[in-house]
Amino acid sequence: MRKIWTLLTIVGFLAGSMFFAGTAFSADGAKLYKKCQGCHSKDGKGKAKKQTPDFTNADWQSRHSLDKIKKVIAEGMKKTETKSGKAMPGFSKRMSAEEIDTVAKYVKAFSK
Ligand code: HEC
Repeated sequence: MRKIWTLLTIVGFLAGSMFFAGTAFSADGAKLYKKCQGCHSKDGKGKAKKQTPDFTNADWQSRHSLDKIKKVIAEGMKKTETKSGKAMPGFSKRMSAEEIDTVAKYVKAFSK
């Protein structure tokens, strides 16, 4: 009987630490941004081929509030709404509200 309790304690501990590692992971803007950099580039300057905007541009930043960025990330943009005619995927089903907030702040932090 004692063996079972020892085992359960170990399993519980492992599950608990995995849970905490998971939340730490999700709160990291740089890690979340990996989902974006294929289209927006690692340095945030955008990709010519995808015609994505330069997030480091002060003028772009001044026209995009944190709320506006969060909305775009959650809902995406239709082809007809973008300058390039390329769609921006929405992440509301793939990211929690907290993750969207974190990655939006990461986009804001590209401003110099
Ligand atoms: C499949 C490619 C793709 C992925 C992945 C992607 N985007 Fe986009 N994103 C685009 C395109 C295309 C546009 C529209 C560019 C334009 O205006 O023509 C866009 C637009 C945006 C805009 C708004 C630009 C504006 O001027 O209003 C923001 C902010 C943005 N993306 C952030 C993100 C973030 C953050 C992620 C990751 C969570 C992400 N994107 C993932 C392709 C992508």
